[in-house]
Amino acid sequence: MTQEEGSHGEWCNGVAKQRVAVIGSGNWGSVAAKLIASNTLRLKDFHDEVRMWVFEETLQSGEKLSHVINGNNENVKYLPGVKLGKNVVADPDLEHTVNDATMLVFVIPHQFVEGVCKQLVGKVGPHVEAISLIKGMEIRKEGCLMMSSLITRILRINCCVLMGANLASEIAEEKLSEATIGYREDNKAVADKWVRLFRTPYFLVASVQDVEGIELCGTLKNIVAVAAGFVDGLDMGTNTKAAIMRIGLREMRVFSKLMFPSVQDTTFFESCGVADLIVTCWGGRNRKIAEAFARAGGKRSFDELEAELLQGQKLQGVSTAYEVYQVLKHRGWQELFPLFSTVHEICAGLLPPTAIVEQCERTPNFSLVEGSAEYY
Ligand SMILES: NC(=O)c1ccc[n+]([C@@H]2O[C@H](COP(=O)([O-])OP(=O)(O)OC[C@H]3O[C@@H](n4cnc5c(N)ncnc54)[C@H](O)[C@@H]3O)[C@@H](O)[C@H]2O)c1
Repeated sequence: MTQEEGSHGEWCNGVAKQRVAVIGSGNWGSVAAKLIASNTLRLKDFHDEVRMWVFEETLQSGEKLSHVINGNNENVKYLPGVKLGKNVVADPDLEHTVNDATMLVFVIPHQFVEGVCKQLVGKVGPHVEAISLIKGMEIRKEGCLMMSSLITRILRINCCVLMGANLASEIAEEKLSEATIGYREDNKAVADKWVRLFRTPYFLVASVQDVEGIELCGTLKNIVAVAAGFVDGLDMGTNTKAAIMRIGLREMRVFSKLMFPSVQDTTFFESCGVADLIVTCWGGRNRKIAEAFARAGGKRSFDELEAELLQGQKLQGVSTAYEVYQVLKHRGWQELFPLFSTVHEICAGLLPPTAIVEQCERTPNFSLVEGSAEYY
């Protein structure tokens, strides 16, 4: 926006300064706010303040989470021990958080995206830019609806994505990490703005024109991580885990390309692809809960294990496996994706955890989907 067009913000070289709001304050949401806040202090074309929407909750102490974050400059529940930066302001009022913001960072568990976006209808102008850091998707009759498309559909704003090998706790400690930003055709300039906002000496960000490929990598790898957790829980060893990861990566690529023919093979070699898969199958929460599930012989529910072991953090892999299974069933593709299908059937209690290694012996039935063999 130019000065002539009028705005009530501050200006930098005749252009209105960007104002960033982060929608979400979980583990990754808090780290994203910290990263961004370190850059808005430095970049002259951004307002210093970064508002962060908090889904308000009352802590065991009786205090409100947003008050404690603002008092201590620390998210004591989702990112204890890390200072966020004095220019991060926690705000429990969603509408107030986005007021005047020109760049919105969506980072909430995917099951809450639709509800949150619906509350924002009419509160966000058409020129606002969004980015989604959210892993997961929704299933509609027509196929997969990725979170960036859901945000665009409800709010009628452009939405990029950021995914990568990003365990939030390690980025919070400023350990070197990489990420991939996805943008659509003609949006390179917007992607560059997001790169400037996120990049730090310890957080290296590249941009790629493949929104769906990047988002599907970030989403589908959680199913593979559940499979890897089963292998760990069964003490099957490293070779088996590597085999499961390879088969999983192959299914990620075939599924992505069948759903969105525009998906690029090279995307799987970016941080959002193979690097995120490795991280999630070794260190993530989906792997951890699936391991506990297998060690309990499938007798304890995922909901129970999530509540016990994740302290408010949310699992994605089990619901994503369910959602992908609905697509596979609807299209008659189960036999083409033995790993994805088996993960869901184990999670649903239809098969024992040991079935995860038996599926390795199954050869996908290519005759089911014309052209699929060339992707394998
Ligand atoms: N944590 C990581 O290392 C990491 C890394 C990369 C991507 N992600 C992705 O980022 C997204 C957000 O994850 P996170 O780690 O920031 O969150 P989290 O799982 O740590 O925390 C859950 C969040 O959901 C909020 N919440 C609970 N009920 C809600 C409701 N009804 N409406 C809205 N919000 C509600 C909680 O307040 C909390 O902020 C997920 O898609 C996740 O896959 C996480």
